[in-house]
Amino acid sequence: MSATATALADRLEEARARTRELLAPLSAEDMARQHSPLLSPPLWDLGHIAAYEELWLVRRLTGAPSLHPELEDVYDAIETPRATRSEAPILDETAARRYLDDVRARALDALAGADLADDADPLTARGFVFDMVAQHEAQHTETVLQCLQMLPAGRYAPPRRRPLPAGGGPAGRWVELPGGAFPMGAPGGGFAYDCERPLHRREVAPFEIARDPVTCGEHLAFMADGGYRRPELWTAAGWEWREREGAEAPLYWERDGEGGWLARSFERRGPVDPEGVLCHASAHEADAHAAWAGARLPTEAEWELAAHGAAADAEAANRDQLAFGPAGRGAYGAAPGGCRGLIGDAWEWTSTAFDAYPGFRAFPYPEYAEVFFGPRFRVLRGGSWATQPIAARVSFRNWDLPERRQIFAGLRLARDAG
Ligand SMILES: [Fe+2]
Repeated sequence: MSATATALADRLEEARARTRELLAPLSAEDMARQHSPLLSPPLWDLGHIAAYEELWLVRRLTGAPSLHPELEDVYDAIETPRATRSEAPILDETAARRYLDDVRARALDALAGADLADDADPLTARGFVFDMVAQHEAQHTETVLQCLQMLPAGRYAPPRRRPLPAGGGPAGRWVELPGGAFPMGAPGGGFAYDCERPLHRREVAPFEIARDPVTCGEHLAFMADGGYRRPELWTAAGWEWREREGAEAPLYWERDGEGGWLARSFERRGPVDPEGVLCHASAHEADAHAAWAGARLPTEAEWELAAHGAAADAEAANRDQLAFGPAGRGAYGAAPGGCRGLIGDAWEWTSTAFDAYPGFRAFPYPEYAEVFFGPRFRVLRGGSWATQPIAARVSFRNWDLPERRQIFAGLRLARDAG
């Protein structure tokens, strides 16, 4: 195999290793059960990961037929919506694992036979579709982790690889950025999804952005100041959500009975760490917190400008399912612009609705991004502690409904230049 093909095979294996390790401690019962209407049974994810890999790396590249033609629709995310996945006739765990292995062997054969240097086929040029499949699996393990975090304490203990790093000292609150025109989107060469392209010129006005993400301590101050009881801090949609949800704190926080708050992370429950980066907040909570702080959320373009040149390696960012939670404020490195912790820890809500960049072209299928464009979805940036390296890049765009908070998301403040 060429060096490029070997690197692609390594990235496929890296994603698979995480999938295996995460699910190893899970009981067969919890594997098969749908734990939330928002998330699939983990066992569906396993079969879906195999079916997606088979579609793109085996069926499309070699023309070989499906190993499970009867399950093509069952494992298609559009054909079998989440609400129906617990009743779908999916493979049992043994068969799903065999399906994963069988597909992977065929995919590696396809990789060995692919001409990655031939630019005429955009699907295989520089290994695009192989990286797409590796990143798809990585993204599914992050959503599986959202599901595992929902399990009551005691049912799942994640395979932690390093302790949560403590904070890096006092914060310098604001970083001033001059704005101007900058290249936004994914540069050529490396893998990126269609919605990150094309690279285009974007102009932003001068602005200020917080050096660090909002901490749990800052959010405790918002709560102590009546933040969840003051409609004037919330958008109309946000207040309606708060009333409907009865939200009084971020998800997985609970009162300790003595006026304080506990947070649960998987099997562990303990006092909220005031220095820790805030996580499990909806965009509505993020908007309200920002209004209370006399600030706003950054736009997606402001976020990307602030993050230009930010490193995403293991020394610079808390990602890749190593510590299984956000670190203390300032524990990880600064971007050249001066902000810390942009990559990893918690996704950061922006104020921008998910939409196409000028000149967007869906590739290789419109169901990844294009069908989600529009005002319903809000962009999140930067990745979380659960995001694998293949998805931890400055140009990567995540999106979700503003009320979602089972995702590993918090916020960073911004404001117009004064
Ligand atoms: Fe998927």
